[in-house]
Amino acid sequence: MKIKENLSERLFDVSEEIVIITGVCGQLGNAYAEAFLNSGSQVVGIDMKASTSSANLSESYPDHFIFIEADVTNRASLQESLVSIKDNFGAPSVLINNAAIDSPPNSSNEDNTAYENYPEDSWYKVIDVNLKGVHLCCQIFGGAMAESKRGSIINVASTYGVVSPDQNLYDYRRKRGEIFYKPVAYSASKSGILNLTRYLAVYWAKQNVRVNTLTIAGVFNHQEQEFLDAYCERIPIGRMANTDDYHAAVLFLASNASRYMTGSNLVIDGGWTAI
Ligand SMILES: NC(=O)c1ccc[n+]([C@@H]2O[C@H](COP(=O)([O-])OP(=O)(O)OC[C@H]3O[C@@H](n4cnc5c(N)ncnc54)[C@H](O)[C@@H]3O)[C@@H](O)[C@H]2O)c1
Repeated sequence: MKIKENLSERLFDVSEEIVIITGVCGQLGNAYAEAFLNSGSQVVGIDMKASTSSANLSESYPDHFIFIEADVTNRASLQESLVSIKDNFGAPSVLINNAAIDSPPNSSNEDNTAYENYPEDSWYKVIDVNLKGVHLCCQIFGGAMAESKRGSIINVASTYGVVSPDQNLYDYRRKRGEIFYKPVAYSASKSGILNLTRYLAVYWAKQNVRVNTLTIAGVFNHQEQEFLDAYCERIPIGRMANTDDYHAAVLFLASNASRYMTGSNLVIDGGWTAI
C-alpha cells in the first residue's frame, strides 16, 4: 500500500519553531538543542556563560543556533534577550525552562546536611533559580508568545518534585561517616513548577499558548558506582536515563502532536514514581 503522507512527520514537525532553551550549556539543555536543531528548528540557547558545547552548536548550526548570555533570575537580562531573539529569528514559539541548580550526589557541601540545619541562603538560592527563574522566563518569553497567539512552554521538573527523594539512596555515604541528605529546596522548587504550569495553562489557554510540565528522572553522568548501584536497584527499568531518552518527550510537547494537551505533567521516569 502506498503511504500518502507521513503522519508522524507531520504531527511532530518542529521545523517552523523558534525554540528557547534555558540552561543550554548543561547536560540536558545541550542534548535538547541538538534534538531541535536536527529537526530543523531555530534554537536560542540561554545560559550564564557560553561553554565549549554552546560554541560547538554555534559553529555547527550557524544559521539555526544563537547563544545568549543571560541569567534567568534577572528580568532585565531576559528582556534584552527577547529583543535579540526577535531581531535574529522572530517571535519565539517554544520555551523549555530547563535551567536549574541542584546538589548532585557527588557534592559535599553544607547543602547536603541534615534538614534541621539546611541553610536559609541555600533555600533562597535554589528557589530563586528553579522557581523564580522559570516564572520570569514565562512572563517575558511566554508573554511574547501570548501576544503572537502561538506557543508551547515546557517546564522541566523532576521525580523529586512529585515524590520525596529516597534518602536511603545515600546510605552508602552515611556509612562512610558523611552527613548526606538530598536537600529540601530542590524538591520544593520542582513541585512548585507543577502548579505554576497549571496556572499558566489556564491563564493562556485562549491565547493559544500551551504550558506543560515534563517530569524526568536521574540521568547517567558518570556518578560514583555506589550511587549507581543504589539508584538502579530502586528504579523499575533498572538503569538511569540517557540524555536522549527525553528527546521524544520534548519534541512531542513542542509540536502539534500534543496540541490538545495543556496543564499536564508528562512523567518519563523509568517507573520511579510508580512504586
Ligand atoms: N540530570 C538529571 O539527572 C535530572 C534529573 C531530574 C531533573 N533534571 C532537571 O533537568 C534540567 C537540566 O538538568 P541538567 O542535569 O542538564 O543540569 P545541568 O546542571 O547540567 O545544567 C543546568 C544549566 O543551567 C544553567 N543555569 C543555572 N543557573 C542559571 C541561571 N541563573 N541562568 C541561566 N542559566 C543557569 C547552568 O549554567 C547549567 O548550564 C534541570 O531543570 C534539572 O532539575 C535533571
